[in-house]
Amino acid sequence: MKKIIIANWKMHYGPIKAGGWVRAFRRERLPKDLDISIAVPHVSLSAARSSLGRASIPALSGQDVFWEKDGPYTGEVSANMLSEFNIKYCLVGHSERRRILDETDDMVAKKAIALQNEGIIPVICVGETATQNKKKETAKVIRKQVNAVLSKIDLENKTPIVFAYEPIWAIGSGKACSPQHAKEAHEVIRKAIIKKTSEDFSNKTAIIYGGSVDVNNITEYMTTTGIDGCLIGGASLNPRNFALLCRTASTL
Ligand code: PGA
Repeated sequence: MKKIIIANWKMHYGPIKAGGWVRAFRRERLPKDLDISIAVPHVSLSAARSSLGRASIPALSGQDVFWEKDGPYTGEVSANMLSEFNIKYCLVGHSERRRILDETDDMVAKKAIALQNEGIIPVICVGETATQNKKKETAKVIRKQVNAVLSKIDLENKTPIVFAYEPIWAIGSGKACSPQHAKEAHEVIRKAIIKKTSEDFSNKTAIIYGGSVDVNNITEYMTTTGIDGCLIGGASLNPRNFALLCRTASTL
């Protein structure tokens, strides 16, 4: 499995800027040994897709989805609609959504199921708050978040899932989590997956790390056992810097 790098633009760049970002990124030298993808705002997917032309790097991803197929859900976007942009991944349960919009584990599971049913790989974000971290509750919190999804999804579905371990205190804070802490958290997630599913399912399930990853620390994460890639927020906003980060993460 190639290591995964997903840029999470969050609420940055409408269609005009998104098109410019993609064109600038495409002018850079991009490594082939990584699975590089950009999670762009829904309104910018069309522009990003046309600026990509025939290029397959980066793949496109979504940042959120609604679980119903269609109907009276004002403002929402379904997995079926997202699939028209040929997106590869879609984030669900990002801590900003859990915290600001009160998304629950149950909603996150429903979103993951909807995506899998459209062949889109859900990237399920989990992670503890600063307080939970201080109280040494990390393992308990992330195990609960992981199990909540694993107990609802169809384990026979052909579309894999990905977990993103994102300690909330490390997101956008510049306080990157130590590779050792990330390694331990990834082990908790890995064990929970094996316990709830099977070796086979676990082998297909990547676990990536996110939270203040940048060009200076990405190598540490990418070379830590058990970390299958990174989710990058702030450091993905500049296309040239993000391309440099991808080259740094590459082993070619
Ligand atoms: P950050 O965000 O890299 O800016 O910390 C990561 C994320 O929230 O996915």
